[in-house]
Amino acid sequence: MVSFLIAYASWSGNTGEVAELIKETLEKTDVQVVLHRIGSGPIPDPADFDSLMVGSFTWEQGATPDEVKDFVLDVGYKPESVYVFGTGDTQFGGDALFCAAAVKLAKFYNSTYPPLRIEQSPRGTQEIEVIEWAEGAYKHWLHLNA
Ligand SMILES: Cc1cc2nc3c(=O)[nH]c(=O)nc-3n(C[C@H](O)[C@H](O)[C@H](O)COP(=O)(O)O)c2cc1C
Repeated sequence: MVSFLIAYASWSGNTGEVAELIKETLEKTDVQVVLHRIGSGPIPDPADFDSLMVGSFTWEQGATPDEVKDFVLDVGYKPESVYVFGTGDTQFGGDALFCAAAVKLAKFYNSTYPPLRIEQSPRGTQEIEVIEWAEGAYKHWLHLNA
């Protein structure tokens, strides 16, 4: 069975909602998912999973939250297969700063699948974007690991 680790940081809950929705979507295929909230305890080793999904909100002026930077350092290496999602808010500075943490993480991890950028809560019209992104990520993974 294919297994994905979803590690996410969430201050006010939006990124957590996205993480849950991705988990539900992946579990409808044959993917086994472990959800880890960054900062909640020991980090499961990404090496024990087929792929790592990382989720982050974005902080001041496009900054990556400290707990996410700590997570990256604690993991200590770049897993081969990484998918990145994030939430943000366009009112903080337009497209260049929107979900900038997710964009930077995807670049750092050399992710070959575009990062998901969600405006605040995914509930409502953006839900479909999350579902399609998650389904697409799994297809992308299958294609690379055929
Ligand atoms: C002080 C502050 C600064 C922020 N700066 C940005 C930013 O530069 N870019 C962005 O996309 N979102 C920014 N946001 C919006 C948050 O990333 C957004 O609300 C996000 O959904 C929060 O995720 P969470 O609910 O998982 O904590 C900022 C929010 C706060 C409170």
